[in-house]
Amino acid sequence: MSRVFSGIQPTGEPHIGNLFGAMFNYVKLGEQYGKDAIYCIVDLHAPTNPNAYDKATLSRLTFEMALANLAAGLDPQKVIFFVQSQVREHSELGWLFTLQTPVGELERMTQYKDKAGQLESIPAGLLMYPVLQAADILLYKAGTVPVGEDQVQHIELAREVARRFNHNFGETFPEPKAVLTKEALRVPGVDGHGKMSKSKGSNSTIGVLEGMESIWAKLRPAPTDPARVRRSDPGNPDICLVFDYHKLFSDLDTIQMVNTECRTAGIGCIDCKKALLPGIERTLAPIQARAVELKQEPDQVYDALQDGAKQARAIAETTMGEVRERMGFLGR
Ligand code: TYM
Repeated sequence: MSRVFSGIQPTGEPHIGNLFGAMFNYVKLGEQYGKDAIYCIVDLHAPTNPNAYDKATLSRLTFEMALANLAAGLDPQKVIFFVQSQVREHSELGWLFTLQTPVGELERMTQYKDKAGQLESIPAGLLMYPVLQAADILLYKAGTVPVGEDQVQHIELAREVARRFNHNFGETFPEPKAVLTKEALRVPGVDGHGKMSKSKGSNSTIGVLEGMESIWAKLRPAPTDPARVRRSDPGNPDICLVFDYHKLFSDLDTIQMVNTECRTAGIGCIDCKKALLPGIERTLAPIQARAVELKQEPDQVYDALQDGAKQARAIAETTMGEVRERMGFLGR
């Protein structure tokens, strides 16, 4: 059985897109793979986007991202969970892959084009972002990468990186595959502007650790089917982000009720949004309660991460020994 690897950026508060698209899957695969499931807060990736990086908040956001994952059920005794910058081999392998990756391949990446388009001066690191991501995965020779749909292109690139290395230096790395959750390939932002995203700020996100009042303040004005202008107009749940959320949070009866009553104008959009609240609370309340407990014992979180980094390093050092030898660097 090959390893599982995934990473999450500490560029903001974790949101329900992260939770359903990735974090729940980390926990599930962790049950199956144990110490062959490796998860990482990728703090070296965060500064690649100057709009999402602030020196003053990086360590706090890293800690909070760790805390949210632990609160959501990740068990550091069972899996390996650590912070990327604490295992130096990520940067080293990232550099060695950079040497072999054509710039043209990187310029085609959709996320690069989106982010670079918003910047006046583009840091080279933003272009190299997916190369470091490939290094994250391949350092542990992982074959399975649980991610949301937005990361599929980056995992394809990691496959390309592995193939090229194997071709140039001999069979070393597996070709990793993305695994997506069924229900949450791409959770929409509550502001109605595309995918929910940490880097778009809190107008787009429903935070995993956010209070119900604050969630309702965003949900209440959230756009729904634009053709439904009056309360008496029938709506189409298939194009409504609130219905997408119902599919994540609500029980089957509620989902069916909302589906029928929206199409027949039996309920209005506010009723539909109110019907979503119990499901959100049922999912987030236990996570938030656990987060409050963990926050009171920060050393538990720091110790778990240190321990995780030690375990990750042991694997990373072995891979790097092999890579250095294959590439011809002086051994001793
Ligand atoms: P990041 O931090 O943006 O997102 C973390 C995970 O959450 C998923 N996700 C979503 N899923 C569904 N709907 C959404 N709206 C949504 N928003 C985010 C992402 O797909 C991701 O799985 N490049 C990665 C971090 C990374 C990584 C890696 C991932 C670095 N190295 C190695 C896997 C393997 C990223 O930006 O994640």
